[in-house]
Amino acid sequence: MKVWGKQTLVPPPTSDKSPHVRFLVKLVLLLGAIWYLLRNYIIVRTEPSTWISPSQRNSNTKCPQVEPLFPSQTTEQLDAMGDFLKSETFRNKSIQRLSGAVQIPTESFDDMGDVGKDPRWDSFPPFATYLKKTFPLVHSTLQLEKVNTHALLYTWPGTDETLKPTLLMAHQDVVPVPDSTVNQWTHPPFSGHYDGKFVWGRGSSDCKNQLIAILEAVEALVEAGFAPRRTLILSFGFDEEISGQDGAGHLAPYLISKYGHGSIAVIVDEGAVNVESWGANFALPGVAEKGYVDVDIVVRMPGGHSSIPPKHNGIGVASELITLIEANPYDPYLDDENPYLELLYCGAEHASEFPSKLKHLLHKRTTKSGTCSKSKKDHLAIEASKAGPEIKYLFTTSVAVDIINGGVKTNALPERTKITVNHRVNVGSTSKAVLNKIAHLAEQVAQKYNLTLNLYNSTETPSSITLFHRDTLLEPAPVTPTHPDSDKSTPYEILSGTTRALYGKSLIVAPGIMTGNTDTRYYWGLSEHIFRYGPGWDRDQDGLGNIHTVNEKVGVQAHLDTVRWMAAFVRNMDEADV
Ligand SMILES: *[C@@H]1O[C@H](CO)[C@@H](O)[C@H](O)[C@H]1NC(C)=O
Ligand SMILES: *[C@@H]1O[C@H](CO)[C@@H](O)[C@H](O)[C@H]1NC(C)=O
Ligand SMILES: *[C@@H]1O[C@H](CO)[C@@H](O)[C@H](O)[C@H]1NC(C)=O
Ligand SMILES: [Zn+2]
Repeated sequence: MKVWGKQTLVPPPTSDKSPHVRFLVKLVLLLGAIWYLLRNYIIVRTEPSTWISPSQRNSNTKCPQVEPLFPSQTTEQLDAMGDFLKSETFRNKSIQRLSGAVQIPTESFDDMGDVGKDPRWDSFPPFATYLKKTFPLVHSTLQLEKVNTHALLYTWPGTDETLKPTLLMAHQDVVPVPDSTVNQWTHPPFSGHYDGKFVWGRGSSDCKNQLIAILEAVEALVEAGFAPRRTLILSFGFDEEISGQDGAGHLAPYLISKYGHGSIAVIVDEGAVNVESWGANFALPGVAEKGYVDVDIVVRMPGGHSSIPPKHNGIGVASELITLIEANPYDPYLDDENPYLELLYCGAEHASEFPSKLKHLLHKRTTKSGTCSKSKKDHLAIEASKAGPEIKYLFTTSVAVDIINGGVKTNALPERTKITVNHRVNVGSTSKAVLNKIAHLAEQVAQKYNLTLNLYNSTETPSSITLFHRDTLLEPAPVTPTHPDSDKSTPYEILSGTTRALYGKSLIVAPGIMTGNTDTRYYWGLSEHIFRYGPGWDRDQDGLGNIHTVNEKVGVQAHLDTVRWMAAFVRNMDEADV
């Protein structure tokens, strides 16, 4: 899982002790306050179409926030559970459970062979055994099915079969630790070392923390005598880091055969963590994922002796195409459906340091409809993209030439040169648009050098450029609905309310977008309400806790908050009319 990390998009205000400057600051603040009053109470009235902040006209808000949501149906035991999850006894137990999970090296390697054949899958049964030993109540109460040998599917049947199930996901596998990096770790990568604040090790943050937190929450709920009305499903794949085909790729079809299309009320998988931006805190549950397209391009040109070369050979022509691809990147573009647009509205409404230029452009976009047709420059997106590449690529199709191969010998001209181009497709675009664009660029080069252009997956011919698209092709994910429904609550509201109940109302919930893909790519058919969210919030931790690199770790407080979030979310979903 890869998402955008914690960022402060605006430098903190510098304090200046001079009394003269302080007076000026006060004056500016006073003038600002007067302007604020004028704008909101006078200008707004004369211009009814103006977008205004929710404190003035709640119905007009572009960033509605739900009230904190606490489970209403409770028992003495469930109340006691709430206290237990905050206790030092539980903290100690939780550290042990997570640390033990990290100590089992469930690495998934890119070149992994078949399940049942490649011995490197053998680390998974011990992990399943560890879970069984660590969560006895889960294993005596929920049904456990093993799908494609190592995928774990737990079912806690609800008493009301008419309610669609809640589905919580995580993956058991972790990114491998290359031997060459082992001694760069402060604590060994599979030690699960606890230093008083963090649990260290590969998988501690991506995402054994989420998997263990889910099981800890369910273990506590069973112990407290909770009996769900709504069926609860836990679905843990085992190869997410290498595309998820063997795990999620089997779990999702199995669930569809068992429950049917669109049969799940809500799905929560690993994803974005809470961040600070523009002087405010945001929870950004991922409601969208970009698409994915790999294109192979093969340039075939006559060989011959390198002592009598033509002006251009295959490598030169491929290089020219690469230069052309890099010279024609995609423009930032905020589709109406792109969650980042909603985040901008939320920033404008709720964040004190939201840039005024962005606010102005947002306002323009709101009042003039159709300012953002795909053919024209999207000035709002261009301005927003200046925050840096991590932000820009939340609403821009990326293109990167990642592999090149050509030539075999110093005295022979290259007859076959191949490049591979990776794209992550923007929300509002399609794989087809991407395939067309790169084909047009290839066509220009083909014409210039009198080469035949063979479009996607046709046969390579002599003197040609041939394009292939790989099977990894993936459209941008359907965007999870976040708009309120007039007659019932929505899963987004349940998730938001659960989050604000845990962290307080100063945390703004806004829809987020993932630049990478999670196992949820296989689950689109099961529910339109899919969220990629890491609810644990460690305010001291920078970004995502070094996922996929050395010194991966997770803050224990963040982990405990994840457990509490999971328990509350299951209960809130159980009570909800969705
Ligand atoms: C929790 O663990 C710490 C450190 O090992 C220990 O000092 C403390 O007594 C434990 N607390 C409880 C309630 O078990
Ligand atoms: C282009 O290639 C074709 C055959 O591949 C050849 O007949 C033709 O003469 C070439 N034209 C030029 C300008 O080289
Ligand atoms: C197209 O070619 C690529 C690269 O050779 C291959 O991986 C893929 O399976 C092919 N796709 C189709 C639809 O034939
Ligand atoms: Zn992950």
